[in-house]
Amino acid sequence: MEHTALPSIVVLDFGSQYTQLIARRIREQNVFSVVLPCTAKLQEVRSHNPVGIILSGGPCSVYDVDAPPADPQVLELGLPVLGICYGLQFMTHALGGTVHAASKREYGHAEVSVLETSVLFRGLPETLSVWMSHGDEADSLAPGFRLIARTSNAVAAIENAAAGYYAVQFHPEVHHTKFGTDLLKNFLFGICQAQPSWTPQKFIDSSIAQIRQTVGEGRALCAISGGVDSSVAATLVHRAIGDRLTCVFVNNGVLRKDEYAKVQHNLRTKLNLNIDAVDASERFLSKLAGVTDPERKRKIIGNEFIEVFDEESQRIKREYGEVQWLVQGTLYPDVIESVSVRGPSVTIKSHHNVGGLPAKMKLKLIEPLRDLFKDEVRRIGRDMGMPDEMLQRQPFPGPGLAVRILGEVTPERVALLQEADDIVVGEIKRAGLYEQVWQSFAVLLPVMSVGVMGDQRTYAYTCAVRAVTSEDGMTADWVPLPHEVLKSISSRIVNEVPGINRVVYDITSKPPGTIEWE
Ligand code: XMP
Repeated sequence: MEHTALPSIVVLDFGSQYTQLIARRIREQNVFSVVLPCTAKLQEVRSHNPVGIILSGGPCSVYDVDAPPADPQVLELGLPVLGICYGLQFMTHALGGTVHAASKREYGHAEVSVLETSVLFRGLPETLSVWMSHGDEADSLAPGFRLIARTSNAVAAIENAAAGYYAVQFHPEVHHTKFGTDLLKNFLFGICQAQPSWTPQKFIDSSIAQIRQTVGEGRALCAISGGVDSSVAATLVHRAIGDRLTCVFVNNGVLRKDEYAKVQHNLRTKLNLNIDAVDASERFLSKLAGVTDPERKRKIIGNEFIEVFDEESQRIKREYGEVQWLVQGTLYPDVIESVSVRGPSVTIKSHHNVGGLPAKMKLKLIEPLRDLFKDEVRRIGRDMGMPDEMLQRQPFPGPGLAVRILGEVTPERVALLQEADDIVVGEIKRAGLYEQVWQSFAVLLPVMSVGVMGDQRTYAYTCAVRAVTSEDGMTADWVPLPHEVLKSISSRIVNEVPGINRVVYDITSKPPGTIEWE
């Protein structure tokens, strides 16, 4: 589903780690924004109905042989352009100035002095504290440009207001740049004359209308996990086509404690979704018997899931009629990632998702969230009346507890980990930390150690506790949980879960660790 009619700001991605952040900052101002690779054709740029263009930063130098081959004609669309960091060099180089190549790009704080009156700095102080990217520097500006801000030793901002060209060497999109959002607002509203009309309600209404039109009288299926993305996607589609959407929720035997019942209850009573719950736990667990290799566990669960889902869809077709559509909760970062100049990032783990389904089942896809970032999905969910408890749920991997039970997955080990995990999550919630951390969970290690309980010697498993903060799961820091919280987690697990007699805390960040243990 595309929102081509909406006026937007097109962000051309030259490979900066901050590109997505630029789009998010713009959307926070209720202006729609799309990220395209810098190699996008002019026709594609135009198809997004832009009222302005932003050129992102990037790791290259304009003189590199592999510098991203953007089309300089994007500067001639008659639209205002804001270059950020590499974007400044690209504009300078493409419009006839010269750039001095630096050997290495570095980031850091800098003080910027505003030298000239410019719409870009309207309402901002004369000195700004910014997050600077020290890389190539503009030596001579392109004709028509003037210097409007500088640091003690470098160009900080330039403009050719008559042509609608603006560029900054620093990053207005990052939090470290004070007044960065104000600068972006000046570009959006002062220069591009954008309208703040892209609101959650508008998104909800237009999505529902589009889904209705696309699906017509057809039927749709959705594989639902109880996670935020699939629940919000299903709720939107349900609003459009009602019970012609069937949500299939599979118990793969490695869900958390009581999750199979709780998720069904929430989806049915709170969201009124048409849920088809399938308890396939025995099937999954028997396939997992004897398997210890992490990647094989993932593959087995992924394949088995497709089998179960396929069988279920055949049953639904027999009972209710043909199904043409599959709803997926794909988010914008996945869409950008697959088209970005950097290309899809290297697969370190084969993530279980439902990617194999549409091909096998010959279904057409509905991806109502493919234009949204995660925080926007939560906003949309909230506006549709979904409870916070569902929207704030921490991410949970598709292969579930199977990748948190090191070694073989057996029903006994699943039951042990379910109990330990329930205690970890319960204590983190009780301490008011659940929404502050990205993930918090228990891991069951196949390591037995000696302990003593009462007068009895014990010989039992070890449980590792993990809690991390993260923005997007790509990098993560371990959380220094308060000692009191660690203490109650540890004593409750050892006392309440027979079979575990030792608790350790994981203090590894990502990289070099990963969030999950397998
Ligand atoms: P790692 O362990 O790679 O995890 O640092 C990053 C994020 O991805 C989640 N994760 C998965 N999600 N299927 C999923 O759906 C998987 O196989 C999988 N492996 C890891 C993990 O929970 C974390 O949020």
